[in-house]
Amino acid sequence: MALILGIETSCDETSAGVVADGYDVRSNVVATQFDLHAKFGGIVPEIASRAHIEQLDGVAQEALERAGASRASLDAVAVSYTPGLVGSLLIGVAAAKTLAWAWSKPLIGVNHVEAHACSAALALGRAPWPAVALVVSGGHTSLYHVHDFDRIERIGCTTDDAAGEAFDKVASILDLGYPGGPIIDRTAAGGNPDAIGFPRTMLGRHSLDFSFSGIKTAVLYHVHGPGKTTGGLERLGPGDIADIAASFQAAVVDVLVAKTMLAVEQTGTRSVVVGGGVAANGRLRGELATACGKAGVELHLTPLAYCTDNGPMIAALAEHHLAAGRTAGFDLAARA
Ligand code: KG4
Ligand code: ZN
Repeated sequence: MALILGIETSCDETSAGVVADGYDVRSNVVATQFDLHAKFGGIVPEIASRAHIEQLDGVAQEALERAGASRASLDAVAVSYTPGLVGSLLIGVAAAKTLAWAWSKPLIGVNHVEAHACSAALALGRAPWPAVALVVSGGHTSLYHVHDFDRIERIGCTTDDAAGEAFDKVASILDLGYPGGPIIDRTAAGGNPDAIGFPRTMLGRHSLDFSFSGIKTAVLYHVHGPGKTTGGLERLGPGDIADIAASFQAAVVDVLVAKTMLAVEQTGTRSVVVGGGVAANGRLRGELATACGKAGVELHLTPLAYCTDNGPMIAALAEHHLAAGRTAGFDLAARA
């Protein structure tokens, strides 16, 4: 039974949240940096770090206020310390250490991807383990066999690009803006997912690994012509763009669903959880529901508010670390 402040600054969202007892989210404050990075078409690490410095104080303060939590009532301060952009992580880690030291609270270091893997438990109010966890974000595409909050075994990962990265790059090829995932999701709604047969890279019948660099190139050549990287976009109308977005999304989702179900088969688990920014994708959520329904497997999708980077998922996993006595020293270091 603990009240924990969780801080998350691994990428381009500055977030803090307060969670009671590992499941009860008392607040979730997120300051996005979309506007700062949009004109560059992607995240500029130095700009992200600077924005975290500027935002984090206010974000953490607001998280405490909205939760009605005083410093005295807190049991610990938790922070994501790996993986992510090291300059971004550094800001959160420095802030968490400072607060933990000044307030005399235990400091807890949380692995950000493991927090995504466990984020579906937040709304459930209980542990769905053992489960296969699909984590799909801008930096990661991995499958885990989660035995418990402290036994998270990676069973597959991307060999090149992450799924979210592919969404962002395809949006950039189609000149749709940044971040690409939500825009592709919306644009695809008006298109035909069967219009173009983009490749579904499976890497072998038993492989749980992913590869998304080929489909990105396939979209590029589809737009501009074989071997070309410019000049084709002007020839496409809104209907063509919607068809490309829908067909690209369908191909990525097919692979994600097929591998997740293969992982279910290989591990023999009867439960699937999904987290990470791309877990907000409408088609992915729908197709996983269908596949799990057919297989008679329980599916727990992370609620939309906890799919992209957020403080509550850090505080929630920290509860289990604290209960097991896994606290960090002030030598906790940010790791890329
Ligand atoms: O987990 P997250 O916030 O940050 C990382 O840890 O990377 O995930 C961000 C990623 C971005 O690539 C973004 O385009 C993608 O998640 N994303 C989506 C959707 N919403 C966010 N991708 C597909 N469909 C969405 N609705
Ligand atoms: Zn993330």
